[in-house]
Amino acid sequence: MDLFDKCTVNLGPLGKYADQAEGYFMFPKLEGEISNRMIFHGKERLIWSLNNYLGLANHPEVRKADAEGAAQFGMAYPMGARMMSGQTKFHEQLENELAAYVKREHAYLLNYGYQGMLSIINSIVDRKDVIVYDSEAHACIIDGMRLHFGKRFVYPHNNIENLETQLKRATRLTEQTGGGILVITEGVYGMSGDLGKLDQIVALKSKYNFRLLVDDAHGFGTMGPTGAGTDEHFGVQKEVDLYFGTFAKSMAGIGGFVAGDYKVIKYLMYNMRSQIFAKSLPMPMVLGALKRLELIRTQPEHRENLWKIVHALQNGLKEAGLDIGNTQSPVTPVMLNGGVGEATQITYDLRENYNIFCSIVSYPVVPKGVILLRLIPTAVHTLEDVSYTINAFKEVKHKLEQKAYSTEMADIENV
Ligand SMILES: Cc1ncc(COP(=O)(O)O)c(C=O)c1O
Repeated sequence: MDLFDKCTVNLGPLGKYADQAEGYFMFPKLEGEISNRMIFHGKERLIWSLNNYLGLANHPEVRKADAEGAAQFGMAYPMGARMMSGQTKFHEQLENELAAYVKREHAYLLNYGYQGMLSIINSIVDRKDVIVYDSEAHACIIDGMRLHFGKRFVYPHNNIENLETQLKRATRLTEQTGGGILVITEGVYGMSGDLGKLDQIVALKSKYNFRLLVDDAHGFGTMGPTGAGTDEHFGVQKEVDLYFGTFAKSMAGIGGFVAGDYKVIKYLMYNMRSQIFAKSLPMPMVLGALKRLELIRTQPEHRENLWKIVHALQNGLKEAGLDIGNTQSPVTPVMLNGGVGEATQITYDLRENYNIFCSIVSYPVVPKGVILLRLIPTAVHTLEDVSYTINAFKEVKHKLEQKAYSTEMADIENV
């Protein structure tokens, strides 16, 4: 059999819908300026699916900093990995400013959040160590653990009682191996919007000896009194040993960082393979990130606008009888009952008849029979956007209950 035979026979759990869904449900093209309104399939739509939480993607000062960075340095500079030939004072400045913002001794830049997380896990644990992690951990955490030669124990999502059981198991094991324990959670869970129970997790430190790594991709810039993250929200910055953030969301850029005690970050700098064996972040990204961080720190109005929209949207949806689960963050899931066919029909209806573009998640990512429509409010949405959307969702729910949507996948051939 040829290795590539599988590529046409079985495209995998997501690829199996490629023929019907590509270009519409999957790999859709959003065109025009990044904003609350963009062009999809030739028409303007109200966009609720971009993690541009603070609306910085198109902020004039951000655009200017990005352009000036590119004009001055090009995209190539610096050449090589940080350790070899890719170090600059601007990379260091960004790290210093990030560390100060999240109140840690030191920070280190990551070229991508995903690869960075993988590499943090890979470099900080060895075969004697045990990882204990939440069952809803993001793919980058799961993939990082795939590189781990030692044991790993999972606890059901946010179940602190079970986390304690896993910590007991891990403690027994590490007493034999002589290793340590790493607990990994997210600050904000990106699908459901609920928070990792950081306060309860750190409380367990008085009984068990472990280190805590928090992936705060969605919390950085959005959560806490100064936007410094979910650990700031809970008042536990000192107890979170390693804080991870990405630039892909609130920072509306690319890259990420990890922050913690100097000695630990220093160890990561000399051991993280994703950074040792990969080219340094290009200068426009670094200068652009410095500008974004400055705006996040000095212009709280972006976060205030975001939360105004979040509260209006989430309260309005709840009042309209929609189930938005347990979210405590800007991430706003709307849960409906139905199969994959109904989910695609609803998305199609929202996009074509209401001109609302949001992301759709169905089985197998969520349990069978659940449709999750995910709305990401941002600082550049308006209260009119919110009320229009709440009405549309109310109507869609009603139509679903009246069995107006077929259980077949939407026929999008003629769109
Ligand atoms: C929880 C979480 N961790 C990590 C990442 C990966 O970050 P990046 O997009 O910077 O690679 C994401 C998604 O972007 C995420 O949602």
